[in-house]
Amino acid sequence: MKSFAPGKIILFGEHAVVYNRPALAVPVDQVQVDVEVLDSDQPGVWIHAPVIDLQAELSTLPPNHPIAAVILTVFQRFGISTFPNINVKIDSTIPVAAGLGSGAAVSVALVRALAGFLDQAISNHDVNSLVFETEKLHHGTPSGIDNTVITYNMPVYYLKGKPIETFKPGKPFTIVIGDTGVPAPTKESVGDVRRLWLRDSNRFETIFNEIAQISTMARHFIESGRPELLGELMNQNHEFLRQMTVSSPELDVLVYAARKADALGAKLSGGGRGGNMIALVEQAEAESVAAVLMSAGAKRTIITEIK
Ligand code: PMV
Repeated sequence: MKSFAPGKIILFGEHAVVYNRPALAVPVDQVQVDVEVLDSDQPGVWIHAPVIDLQAELSTLPPNHPIAAVILTVFQRFGISTFPNINVKIDSTIPVAAGLGSGAAVSVALVRALAGFLDQAISNHDVNSLVFETEKLHHGTPSGIDNTVITYNMPVYYLKGKPIETFKPGKPFTIVIGDTGVPAPTKESVGDVRRLWLRDSNRFETIFNEIAQISTMARHFIESGRPELLGELMNQNHEFLRQMTVSSPELDVLVYAARKADALGAKLSGGGRGGNMIALVEQAEAESVAAVLMSAGAKRTIITEIK
């Protein structure tokens, strides 16, 4: 049984979303995770994940290992107490710890492939809540936005604890993603923001409110087919993220380089401190903005169409 899941980027509202403000995220199908579950002659549940250099039998992994946790949760969910003899093959083109949702994508594809192998139907809602439980292992206090956008594979307007709202752009638009190549665990930036928020909650609440307005306006511009208006909102959102200390010199260099080239706007995307930035571009400018990002130090770029 095979399954796949896309990567994702956050367009607006990262960090503020942890504090119950809305954020927008979209799938990125230029990168993806593929999972295949096959019967095996060897006893045990064998996991082969070359991208993270993992080749192991389930019982040798700690139960809170992110992949083991997903498999154990699925077995438990379907009342499987005698584990099948299987090979679980995980391949991914999503860079790890770069804000593209690699962990959530592995979990989503794994849940679906295992459920399929066990002949069990599973709804998006159930995939999503199961993966959210395991996301807590990587993130500490995740908002749930990663697993949601990847499970539904559609643009998502996300507000913690509220029913999922997917939406459709009135007109497609093009984003260039630039990877700083600096690994940046989201757990750390989220933890740092929490400490700063505890120290100066008035100031941070004001920033979160400003970002909430940006996300709300952005959704409106996207749905009403005026994506060109997102550029200025991206620039504003980036400034607030800088004030929250989650940008980095490498991210700023790429963001400013994109703006100086012909991007309509640019910001960091995701946890920050490293990982990715995104730039809104006219489709015809995408290649040249990507080239500018590479000369400014990006380790890789991805051009994606949001539709
Ligand atoms: O680093 P990423 O893309 O996984 O995104 C993290 C987004 C945060 O808002 C910073 C954290 C969260 O759980 O929503």
